[in-house]
Amino acid sequence: MYAEIGSQWNVAELEDAAHRHLISPAEEMAKLGTSGGRPLFTSADGIYISDSQGRTLIDGPGGMWCTQVGYNSQPIADAISAQALRLCYNSPWYSINGPAAELARRIAEFAPGDLNHVFFTTGGSSAVDSALRFVQFYNNVLGRPTKKAIICRIDGYHGSTHLTAACSGRAGNRPNFDLALDNVSFISAPNVFRRPRGMSEADFLDFLVAEFENRITALGADNVGAFLAEPLLASGGILIPPKGYHRRILDICRKHDILYISDEVVTGFGRCGHWFASEEVFDIVPDIITFAKGVTSGYVPLGGFVISEAVLGRVSGENARGSFYTNGYTYSGHPVSCAAALANIDVIEKNDLLAHVREIAPYFQEQIRTLGELPLVGDVRGTGLVACVECVTDPTSEAATDFDKEVSLRVDRHCYEGGLIVRPIGNMCVLSPALIITREQIDRMIAILRDSIVRTQEEIRAENRW
Ligand SMILES: Cc1ncc(COP(=O)(O)O)c(C=O)c1O
Repeated sequence: MYAEIGSQWNVAELEDAAHRHLISPAEEMAKLGTSGGRPLFTSADGIYISDSQGRTLIDGPGGMWCTQVGYNSQPIADAISAQALRLCYNSPWYSINGPAAELARRIAEFAPGDLNHVFFTTGGSSAVDSALRFVQFYNNVLGRPTKKAIICRIDGYHGSTHLTAACSGRAGNRPNFDLALDNVSFISAPNVFRRPRGMSEADFLDFLVAEFENRITALGADNVGAFLAEPLLASGGILIPPKGYHRRILDICRKHDILYISDEVVTGFGRCGHWFASEEVFDIVPDIITFAKGVTSGYVPLGGFVISEAVLGRVSGENARGSFYTNGYTYSGHPVSCAAALANIDVIEKNDLLAHVREIAPYFQEQIRTLGELPLVGDVRGTGLVACVECVTDPTSEAATDFDKEVSLRVDRHCYEGGLIVRPIGNMCVLSPALIITREQIDRMIAILRDSIVRTQEEIRAENRW
């Protein structure tokens, strides 16, 4: 049916309609209304996606780190269709539906420790935003109205609502927007590659932990409500903190009664070989885990947070003090989204995809690290099925240069021509393919990336720019 409708569309007309009427995220305003060079994708299957020019490419970033089970899954499409016909909507403000209840039960089962209650939202930004609003609610109900500051990290990304944008520390997202920074405090990114020269990794870890503790002292523990962190900083460039970082930060949070929010919008639902990465990969049981993306493999929007009994118990039941948690959305626990998520979980389980990721990820990591031998590559890092290659033209520079970024865009363009999407984030080429990827497909992906980097090296040498 979709294919029939789609086949009647005229590509040139659609591109024209987009240029005239569509505003996209990350829109370069000088180019609004012109061809911004965005491909128009028309169909997809498995790990592959096809554009309007008839090219079929490996989707290296897996959409935006979300297409876990791959494109074109019949069971998920069937579940969406069946639920849309059975009950397409109910108001979550005064009723519940079966898929939301069952999905909450499943997520509570997957989540570590006593994280047993789930609040559903419409995506990752609304998940983190709701978790942060919960921190405010919680401390107000507890009679601690000053305990509101959120400590987060430079280079973290948590979304595009007013509050989550304020907590996102990526410099490129900030100019020309007003940010609600009153209660937001940034500490350093745990960027091992860019750590101060001459500092060992162990000393860097001590530095990061001390910086966190000193910040609490400076703000006053009575004024700090939460620490918000991705287990690995995804959009910030696959920054994996030194081993033990999260554990030590969590211990400090516990000492000062500060809530630890683990933003698993990227790492949740299999990316690192587990339903959630917080405990199994990073050795912590946080107070709140936020999720989105992989929960439906990107088929329909859904997000949410799962929260511990211990925290919830302090402001509910006999401790509620007459409060109402009035935060929510028309589409909280949307039945069609929740049905899609349940089908997605079924597909992951039936195909043993978590075990598959644990089995294949070491191969992926080993293969992508072979690119480190190329002169243009400054660093290769990753874990599970997520990794990035950082292009560095000037090893003496402490930060990525504009030329590094230009070079990565070239690598991206060559990859596209060769049949692979790598989403360049600044000077980094990021890969987080669908979890169903095979060894042969990994080989193909890395071979295209290698060729593209080599080609770029040759070009910039020929241009005498390097
Ligand atoms: C860690 C993290 N949190 C939150 C978000 C925001 O999610 P969404 O774009 O679904 O609103 C993202 C998006 O990439 C993310 O990477």
